[in-house]
Amino acid sequence: MLYDLLILGGGPGGYTAAERAGQAGLKVALFEKDALGGVCLNEGCIPTKTMLNSAKLYDHANNSEVFAVKSLEVSFNQAQVVKRKNKVVKTLIGGVKAKMKNNGVEVIKAEASICGKEDDLFRVDALNEKYLGKNLLIATGSVPAVPPIPGLKEGLESGFVVTNKGILDLEEIPEKMTVIGGGVIGLEMACYFQTVGSKVTVIEMQDHIAGTTDSQIGNMLQNIYTKKGINFLLEAKVTEVSDGYVSYELADESAGIAADIVLLSVGRRPVIEGYGLESLGVEVEGGAIKTDAQCRTNIPGVYAAGDVNGRWMLAHAASREAETAVNTMLGKEDEMSYNNCPGVIYTNPEVAYVGATTEELDLQGRPYKMVEIPFSYSGRYMAETNREQSLCKLIVDGDDQTLIGCHLLGPYVSEIIITAGIMIERKMTMEEIKKQIFPHPTVAEIIREGIFLLKS
Ligand code: NAI
Repeated sequence: MLYDLLILGGGPGGYTAAERAGQAGLKVALFEKDALGGVCLNEGCIPTKTMLNSAKLYDHANNSEVFAVKSLEVSFNQAQVVKRKNKVVKTLIGGVKAKMKNNGVEVIKAEASICGKEDDLFRVDALNEKYLGKNLLIATGSVPAVPPIPGLKEGLESGFVVTNKGILDLEEIPEKMTVIGGGVIGLEMACYFQTVGSKVTVIEMQDHIAGTTDSQIGNMLQNIYTKKGINFLLEAKVTEVSDGYVSYELADESAGIAADIVLLSVGRRPVIEGYGLESLGVEVEGGAIKTDAQCRTNIPGVYAAGDVNGRWMLAHAASREAETAVNTMLGKEDEMSYNNCPGVIYTNPEVAYVGATTEELDLQGRPYKMVEIPFSYSGRYMAETNREQSLCKLIVDGDDQTLIGCHLLGPYVSEIIITAGIMIERKMTMEEIKKQIFPHPTVAEIIREGIFLLKS
C-alpha cells in the first residue's frame, strides 16, 4: 500500500502530524503499539493534571477558613481519584481516535519496523504487512532514564520503585515516599503526595531543584514546599535502593531513609532503538535523532518530532514540531522557534516560564533590564488567594527594549504564560506592551504592571 506519510508513534508528535497531514489531503498511516495519545495522554500531562486538581481541591477545602468557608469534614479518596483519572484519559483517547478517523488517517495498532527503502519509497513493516511511504515521520517518544544505582532494577521489578507511569495507579496513599530527582515529574508528584498526606523526601543530585528554571523561582518553590513539609536533600547521591530503604551520600556522609514507595524521576531518554532506524542511516547525536529547524533528519523525506529528538521533551513542543515537519513536506515555509516555547511546573503555586533566564544572559554577557514584582500588584490575586509567595520576573533586551524573558510563580500562571510567549515571539517592545489592554481584574495584569515598573 502506498502512502504520502508513514508515522511511527501516536503521541502528541505523531497524532498531531497525522491530523494536520490528513487535513491537507495526504494519505497517512499511523503506527502505535499501545494506546493513542502517547506518554502525554496515558501517563503524563493529562493524568497528572487530573490528579493534581483533586489534590488542589483537597488543599483548598482544608484551608478554606481564611475565605470564611468552613469545611466540616474533608476526605480524599485516592482510589476514586485514580478511577476518575482513567475515565478522563479514556475519553480523551476517544477524542484522538475521532480526530484520526475524521481526517482519514489509517491507524495501525502494532509495533512497526523501518525496513529501509524500496523503489525510492520508505518501507515500514507491521503485522506482516508492508507499507510504503513517500515521507516518514519518527515520533517514538522517550522512556524513563534508569541510572545504574544498585538495587534500582530489582526495585522496579518488585514495584517498590515506580516511574511516572506506576505512580499514577497507586490506589492508596503511601505513608512515606522518596522521590529520586527534583525535576518536573519529581516536583509535581511530590506536591501531589505531600498534599494528600504522604511524608515526602526529594533526593536531588544538583544543588537546586527544578532544573534550568530561574534559580530564584526554584528556590522560592523549594521554600514553599519545605514549609508544607517536604524534605529536600540537595547535592545528594543515591548509592543503593533496597526493599523499604534508600541509601544516599550527602556532604560525604552516608545516610538512608525508609520508604514505602520510591518514585524514580531522573529524566527521560529518546527511543531510538529496536525499530530499524539504522536501516536508513538516520543520524543520531547524543542519544537523540538529529533534526534541523524544519524537523528534517539527515535523510531527505525522513522527519522526527517530539521527545525522540531530545530537544524540549514537552508535548506542546512535539505538536508544533509535528506541524513544522508536515508543512515542510507540503512545501510550506515553516520553522521551529524554541524561543517562545513555555515551560510549566504544575505545583501549587504553579511555575511558568518562557524565554531567556538572567543566568543565561549573564553567561552570554548580553545586556538586559529586569523587574521583579510580587503578585500582590494584582487585584484578583489579592481577592482570591491567601497571599502565598509569588513572583513575576520580566526581562527586557537592553538594546531594543523587547521582552525576552518571563518567569512566574503564582496562581493561574500556566494559563498566563502564553501572553508573554506571544510577546517574545512577536518581539514586542515595552512601549508596545504598555498599549495592550488586559482584562481587569486578572492575575495576567501582573505582566502589564511589571512592564510599567521598568524604566525605558
Ligand atoms: P527532569 O530532567 O525534569 O529532572 C530530573 C532531575 O533528576 C534533575 O534535577 C536531575 O539533576 C536529577 N537527577 C538526575 N540523576 C539523579 C540521581 N541519580 N539522583 C538524584 N537526582 C538525579 O526529568 P523528569 O522530572 O524525569 O521529567 C522528564 C521529562 O518530562 C522532562 O523533559 C520534563 O520536561 C517532562 N515533563 C514535563 C512536565 C510539564 O511540562 N509540566 C511534567 C512532567 C514531565
